Amino acid sequence: MPKVFITTKIPDAGLNLLKEQGYELEIGSATENLPHEEIARRAKGADALLTQLEDRVDGNLLDGLGPQLKIVANYAVGYDNFDLKELAQRNIIATNTPGVLTEAVAEYAVGLILALFRKIPEADRFTRSGKYKGFDPDLLVGSELQGKILGLVGHGRIGCRVAEILQKGFGMNVVYYDTKRDEAAEATCGIAYGPLEEVLSSSDVVTLHVPLLPATRHLISEKELSSMKPSSFLVNTSRGAVIDEKALVRVLQEKKIAGAALDVYEEEPNLAPGLSELENVLLSPHIASATKEAREHMAIVAASNIIAVLSGKPPLNQVK
Ligand code: GLV
Ligand code: GLV
Repeated sequence: MPKVFITTKIPDAGLNLLKEQGYELEIGSATENLPHEEIARRAKGADALLTQLEDRVDGNLLDGLGPQLKIVANYAVGYDNFDLKELAQRNIIATNTPGVLTEAVAEYAVGLILALFRKIPEADRFTRSGKYKGFDPDLLVGSELQGKILGLVGHGRIGCRVAEILQKGFGMNVVYYDTKRDEAAEATCGIAYGPLEEVLSSSDVVTLHVPLLPATRHLISEKELSSMKPSSFLVNTSRGAVIDEKALVRVLQEKKIAGAALDVYEEEPNLAPGLSELENVLLSPHIASATKEAREHMAIVAASNIIAVLSGKPPLNQVK
């Protein structure tokens, strides 16, 4: 029977599909990321490897696992942890889980934007710490989304859904930038294109929805951050390294922008020095896709990719 190694336990909806096939399943860890060396040792001889987004899949690992390996299925839409060239050279199929986490991530990005505009985390800290002494017309006054400008960096499925929710539901105006302009998507999501500089300098909040690629690494660095308005916010639910995190810390320390909300970091799970001491930043531990619905579907998609490839069929979501 084919052997499937799953680095970190995924929801039962996916595990059960694999079990029904009679595969020999091994789960690396119930909760934690396995060290690279441990994956190399324990997944040796596997026909399929199911990874999560922090598992680095490189030539070394693939050589160690053996020539029988047919597929590496990522439990994520992003696949910057894959060395696609090394996978292709060995004829190993690589897959991801697109589409099923769009709603979860888009809703979370909208939640972060609301939290920033209305100072929700600050209000919680204020109230818990016993500072609430009665109604005060000047206390924690935020601003409304209605009529403000949303700057979208990346207009894939998630970016478009964020734009749709904030346009239709909150009356925001949307401008977008992407490394590739896509006029068809502009028409379907009803958004206007602008160069990055213009999107950054005109927006009241900028939200990032690009994959991590050589072209998007540190796309938002000191220069870009400096072109944002002092009253504006930055939100990142994509990949940490799209922002130069050290530059962001400096910009926030100097209050050159009003604040930021981050769900992803350059060196997960570590934070850039000084980040967690800042009051004008909202931090969360890479949970934008963490809904029951999305996680269950991600598990089903990852498992279905494995089942297809091990039965000699084309995968549903190959990445190249
Ligand atoms: C989550 O970050 C994902 O890429 O699925
Ligand atoms: C991910 O699903 C995207 O394309 O935005």
